[in-house]
Amino acid sequence: MTYQPDSSRYQQIQYNRCGRSGVKLPAISLGLWHNFGGVDVPENCRAMIRHAFSSGITHFDLANNYGPPPGSAEENFGIILEKDFRPYRDEMIISTKAGYAMWEGPYGEWGSRKYLLSSLDQSLRRLKLDYVDIFYSHRPDPETPLEETMGALAQAVKQGKALYAGISNYPADKTKLAAKILRELGTPCLIHQPKYSMFERWVENGLLDVAEEEGMGVIAFSPLAQGLLTDRYLQGIPEGSRASKAHGFLKQKDITPEKLSKIKKLNDIAIARNQTLAQMAIVWLLKDNRVTSVLIGASSVDQLRNNLDALKNSVFSKEDLEKIEGVLR
Ligand SMILES: NC(=O)c1ccc[n+]([C@@H]2O[C@H](COP(=O)([O-])OP(=O)(O)OC[C@H]3O[C@@H](n4cnc5c(N)ncnc54)[C@H](OP(=O)(O)O)[C@@H]3O)[C@@H](O)[C@H]2O)c1
Repeated sequence: MTYQPDSSRYQQIQYNRCGRSGVKLPAISLGLWHNFGGVDVPENCRAMIRHAFSSGITHFDLANNYGPPPGSAEENFGIILEKDFRPYRDEMIISTKAGYAMWEGPYGEWGSRKYLLSSLDQSLRRLKLDYVDIFYSHRPDPETPLEETMGALAQAVKQGKALYAGISNYPADKTKLAAKILRELGTPCLIHQPKYSMFERWVENGLLDVAEEEGMGVIAFSPLAQGLLTDRYLQGIPEGSRASKAHGFLKQKDITPEKLSKIKKLNDIAIARNQTLAQMAIVWLLKDNRVTSVLIGASSVDQLRNNLDALKNSVFSKEDLEKIEGVLR
């Protein structure tokens, strides 16, 4: 059946300006790190992308290595784009990245111009696209000069293979330098993608300030701590969950009794607010207006639906915030 997105999709979600740029991103974006690879069920992937777009999610985040196997999430997304989204390309912000190990030899990872530009060409072939909207340096490279890595991002933009440059996992000081270099090259850094959740708050010690000063947007990845900040693990480790899968990045050893005790207390606070823990974890990030978008993952349309409903209750009382801090401290 031909895909017909919901005609009211742009009334369903809020859009936030990405730093001081011209583009807005949906408050919730969808990432394809897990659950969209060659090991996953294609019809479930397609249903999630369709539901996301129909709900106003315009931004889909990928990387060269997403799968498994690496590259397969881009391939699968390319197939879905071809089948359902050709008429909607101009309504979508699609990002990809390069930085982690992708192929053998000295040019298959990190931050050289050689690696970044070859990888982007490979990504475009897998996605069957002429350009991506955002091309990221996925992680800082301690050995390659920052000028070279940023120069490669700027070159990708000048070649028309990416519309904007982004950085991910860069600490505050390197972010400041990267912003300066990119500005001088005429391709200002659009966005920073850091890990940020109730359980991972390093960005609060300087990075958010730098992003604001430099006019960059911020998109928070793993906002649910890969599923920990939900009710997923309250009764053990369910079959099919990320922690149950050999290729899942969340390991059973990460689900410690101390973590679980915090999760239970946070879950109680969420229930008292009439929302799920996943919903509370999402809007807790969005209360800081330096956070442009929250980049969730999902393994089902139901999870997506639940997460999108987060936006219906995004106000926190001072008491709620204090209770949450009390648990996290
Ligand atoms: N730049 C980087 O270095 C980097 C690194 C990691 C991720 N990312 C990006 O961030 C995106 C999101 O990362 P993430 O998948 O770790 O995000 P996440 O939102 O923290 O975790 C997603 C997982 O949480 C569970 N979940 C989601 N909604 C739920 C709900 N309502 N109820 C119960 N469980 C729920 C699902 O686990 P189950 O699968 O168990 O159902 C889902 O796979 C990635 O896809 C990628 O685009 C970037």
